[in-house]
Amino acid sequence: MAAHTGGLTETGGRTTVRIENLVRSFGERRVLDGLDLSIAPGEFVALLGRSGSGKSTLLRALARLDHEVAGSGGLTAPDHVSVVFQDARLLPWKRLLDNVVLGLDGPSARERGRAALAEVGLAGRERAWPVELSGGEQQRVSLARSLVREPQLLLADEPFGALDALTRIRMHALLRRLCERHRPSVLLVTHDVDEAIALADRVVVLDRGRIAADLPVDLPAPRRHGSGEYAALRGRLLARLGVDLAEEEDAA
Ligand SMILES: Nc1ncnc2c1ncn2[C@@H]1O[C@H](COP(=O)(O)OP(=O)(O)O)[C@@H](O)[C@H]1O
Ligand SMILES: [Mg+2]
Repeated sequence: MAAHTGGLTETGGRTTVRIENLVRSFGERRVLDGLDLSIAPGEFVALLGRSGSGKSTLLRALARLDHEVAGSGGLTAPDHVSVVFQDARLLPWKRLLDNVVLGLDGPSARERGRAALAEVGLAGRERAWPVELSGGEQQRVSLARSLVREPQLLLADEPFGALDALTRIRMHALLRRLCERHRPSVLLVTHDVDEAIALADRVVVLDRGRIAADLPVDLPAPRRHGSGEYAALRGRLLARLGVDLAEEEDAA
């Protein structure tokens, strides 16, 4: 257990995320302003919010990359956390397998790395260089690098934001499969409402430094655009993000 500068108690837990009264300011500006959020073991939560609303700031706090978060509450996160960013951040001078197992040791590391690459559809590409891959393939490697560490919490910051629409759909299916198999808790940051609904068990909206909406996604798979329930949930989330659908339709 370690105390943050702002008096926040940080606990390494085994399985769940619990954040109470989290505060993060940059100068005069309070980006996170008494934020509360819990994530259950194996739960997939999508975090929506406008650009600049503090999504990445929250993620960095959970990843323990930010030591200036404060607040009177606690921050409980598992010991094993992996982070996936919008860019894959592969080391260009290392082959794929070496990127995946970077920093891991033990005799089985390379074998586990090979299995992780196979899981993301890149079997046989162990010796390829990052530059030989498409953007989508690089993100697959980045997922493999996360999963080989068997994280209890997977944090993903707009991981598919730079990919084309078709690649994104394939990555959604891959991520769902991987999460069903490995069952980490997930916090996925996205500004795409449809991506949030497609993937998550629960969608939360960050606004003015707090969680302004927290809605379960009780839709059967596959979650189809056409259904009335889907449209209702989508409309509620968009309204929370400040998009008025009725207004848009009137204008069309
Ligand atoms: N290191 C920093 N120094 C100053 N301001 C920052 C820093 N990091 C983030 N901010 C500010 O905090 C706000 C939230 O940023 P961020 O969490 O990146 O938003 P989001 O990921 O939701 O787009 C923004 O206004 C941003 O300019
Ligand atoms: Mg961000």
